[in-house]
This record gives sequence, C-alpha cells and structure tokens, in this order.
Amino acid sequence: MAIAPHVSASKRALIAALEQKALQQRYDWRRHARPNQLAPTGAWFVWFLKAGRGFGKTRSGAEWVRQRVDAGFGRMALVAKTPADARDVMIEGESGLLAIAPPWHRPTWQPSNRRVTWPNGAIATVYSDEVPGQLRGPQHDSAWCDELAKYRNPQETWDNLMFGLRLGADPRVCVTTTPTSIALVKGLLHDPRVIVTGGSTYDNQANLAEPFLAMIRARYEGTQLGRQELYGDVIEQAEGALWTRERIETARRKIIPPLRRIVVAIDPAATSKGTSDETGIIVAAVGEDGDGYVLDDVSGHYSPAGWAGRAIAAYHTQGADRIVAEVNNGGEMVEHTIRTVDPNVSYTAVHASRGKRTRAEPVAALYEQGRVHHIGLLTELEDQMCVWSASDGEASPDRVDALVWALTELITGDGGDGLGFLAYAGERIAASKAQAEPTPDPPVDENPWIAALPRGDP
Ligand SMILES: Nc1ncnc2c1ncn2[C@@H]1O[C@H](COP(=O)(O)OP(=O)(O)OP(=O)(O)O)[C@@H](O)[C@H]1O
Ligand SMILES: [Mg+2]
Repeated sequence: MAIAPHVSASKRALIAALEQKALQQRYDWRRHARPNQLAPTGAWFVWFLKAGRGFGKTRSGAEWVRQRVDAGFGRMALVAKTPADARDVMIEGESGLLAIAPPWHRPTWQPSNRRVTWPNGAIATVYSDEVPGQLRGPQHDSAWCDELAKYRNPQETWDNLMFGLRLGADPRVCVTTTPTSIALVKGLLHDPRVIVTGGSTYDNQANLAEPFLAMIRARYEGTQLGRQELYGDVIEQAEGALWTRERIETARRKIIPPLRRIVVAIDPAATSKGTSDETGIIVAAVGEDGDGYVLDDVSGHYSPAGWAGRAIAAYHTQGADRIVAEVNNGGEMVEHTIRTVDPNVSYTAVHASRGKRTRAEPVAALYEQGRVHHIGLLTELEDQMCVWSASDGEASPDRVDALVWALTELITGDGGDGLGFLAYAGERIAASKAQAEPTPDPPVDENPWIAALPRGDP
C-alpha cells in the first residue's frame, strides 16, 4: 500500500509493523485450521488423518511439514502414489507446499532431483509408491504420505519408509488420506499407537467450490461409498460374508412403495451376557410387487422395557402387522416385557432351532436375486451384514439376527399367502425344517430351490 509523503517516520514504522503482523496472521495455520486438521499434541509417531474428499487433508499435511521445517527438522520424505501426484498435489497444488509457504520462508522446488529445499537448509525428497525401492536406504526425520489408501504397493512402501524413519530423537510420520479397507489402512487404524483424527467433506464446506460440493453430494450422499468418500469411514467386506456391499447398494431404494405386510423383528439382548449386547430391532415389509423392503433399523443398547418400547413405537408408527421376537433367551419374559408396554400388539415368538447360517442363507439368496431393498442407508446393519463371515462358531450380530427373523416371518409367517415367490420360498424353508435330521445346506448357488425361484424383472 502506498503511503502519503507527509506521513511521519514513526507512523510509517507503525504501519509497517501492522502490515507485518497481518501477513504473519495470514500464514498462521493455527488461526485458520479447524481443530481436527491440527497435528495432535504430545508424543506420537504416526498421525493418521482420515477424512472425506475435499476435507483439507492435503492442506493439513503440507502445513504439518511446514511446522516441522520451522521446528528445525530437515530430512523429510514426501510420499505420493505417483511422481505426478507428488508434484501436482503435494508440492505445486493449491494446498501444496509452495502455495502455503509464507513469503519469508519459501522453499524452492527442483523436480530434476525430486527435492524441495527451504532457506533454513531443510530438505524434503519426493518418493512415489510406483517405485517402492526408492525408499530403501534413505533415512528421514519426518514423512508425509498423501492418499496412502490409494497406493498400489502400500505395504512395501510403508515398510521401507518405516525402516528409514529413524533420524534424530523424534521422527514422525503424518498420513493424510480418504481411507479404503486395504489391510495396511485397517491395521494402522486399529493400532492403539496410531493417533487418528479426521472428519467429513462438509467440515470444509466454506472453502469448497459449490460445483464440487454439488457433484460429490449427488454422486455419493446416501450410498455406502459416500460414507468413505464424504465421511472418511472405512467400508469393510469380510471374506465369505453372505452379503456384499455391491448387492445391497444396487438394490437400494429411496422411496417406500405400496406395502402388503410389515413386521417388526426383535432379537433381544441376553441379559445374562451383560449390558454390552445390543438388541436388534428391524422393521421390514413385503411390497405389493412381492419384493422385500427393509424400512428401518432401530437396534441399540436398551433395557428390556427400553427395547420393548422402541419396538412397539416402530410397530405403531410404521403401521406394522406383527412383532416377532426370538425367545431363546427366556420366552415368557420376552412376551411379558412386550405385553407390559402394550397388551394389544400382534405378537409371535420364534425359536432358533437351526444354525444361524442355515437360517440366514435363504434370506441372503433373496438379496442375491435383488429382491430385497433397503430404504435409504442402514449403516450399522449393512456393516454387520458384510462383516459377519458366517463361519462356524462366530456369533452372528444382533441386527443381522433381527433382519433374518423379519424376512423369514415375511416369507413363512401367517400372512404369507399369495406373496408370490416369497410364499414359495417359505414352502421350501418349511420343507427343510421338517427334515428329521438336518443335513448341511449346499452352498447357496447350488441350492436347487433357490435356483428354481422365479426371477422378477430387474
Ligand atoms: N482450515 C482451512 N481454512 C481455509 N481453507 C482451507 C482449510 N482447509 C482446507 N482449505 C482449503 O480447502 C481446499 C481443499 O483442501 P485440500 O486440497 O487440502 O483437501 P483434500 O482433502 O486434500 O481434498 P482431496 O480429497 O481432493 O484430495 C483447498 O483450497 C484448501 O486450501
Ligand atoms: Mg488432497
């Protein structure tokens, strides 16, 4: 700003000092960062910032590197998926090291020797996951890995980085990424020594362009992938699980169609197992079209009166026809609990006599056919469905149990007449129940009755 000639020297000095202060504040990350973008305080070795797209991950990583440089650390590794990512995002990008540097401490970037150098002598070298061997040998006191979850050789790159991260008394690594369910990411997130912070795309809404927000909202909101891309959640899929994310996603609906019959199914927490157990409560229906619809999941940690109240509230608000409850953990008690809250609800007790997998398979087969639709996202239920490997001895999760009871009741229950393929499936389930000695079920795709089910229009 030009200053008029008559202004005194002391005023000029004051103006210069004010300008200097304003400039310093402009580059003071602590003033601008949201708390979940700042490096954790105290002693840590790995900081894992997992967050949705556009959260400000790259900016947070770059600012952390700047802070390390200012604190006197000077042998840094910048690790990206490709050399182009390192250059275009971590260094030259809008949130990269060059853009965030204050004018009084600008680094220089020499692409030919993959090096960023600061005036105080600190050096950062660029490594890419495309060449994991590059990281074998060099030692560092600090490292920043951007978008680790997208690497092609994440484990090898990470291991090499770790071997060389041993300079000085306080080496540290910062990971900034939208997570995926790769083994390295899951391992780090479950490691109690790793400090995890993060948040969602929406946290940074004020700094994101409206078209970007509109685009990713339209693409991801209300989907499982959206939990990963917008909220930074890890979406897991177990080997051998009866359900897959993809199947559930493809069949998902936003709007409830006309319905024929609605049930609320309860898998009450066994009081003997302590208070940590959840009570599964699922509301599901058969539509006029003969497909199954999962309307709501109101499972949770409840006292007996609590789960009965919650289930009965769902029964009334959804206009349900029946409540079914598994009574393996004390039948009279379950009925008594329900009747105490509302003596008039229509209620059926169900007993688990067959194995959980055997019970769940016909239901899973209906999902395979795309005949069961979730209304909106049922996050915790879907996690349990896709993470339960359904192997012998593994306890099935409560929400899944309630789901299986709800759909089984819709298939076989007294309102099952005329429900098209569901009634047919019910006959087959009844027939398999009637067998004196239960034989192990064949794998789903070889199961003749499932194969014989009429397929609807896709
Ligand atoms: N606390 C903040 N204050 C102001 N601007 C911010 C802040 N955090 C991030 N930004 C800006 O928001 C934009 C997006 O940030 P950034 O590129 O770091 O996000 P990202 O999570 O790495 O995105 P992507 O998922 O695309 O990699 C950038 O312009 C960045 O400078
Ligand atoms: Mg980024």
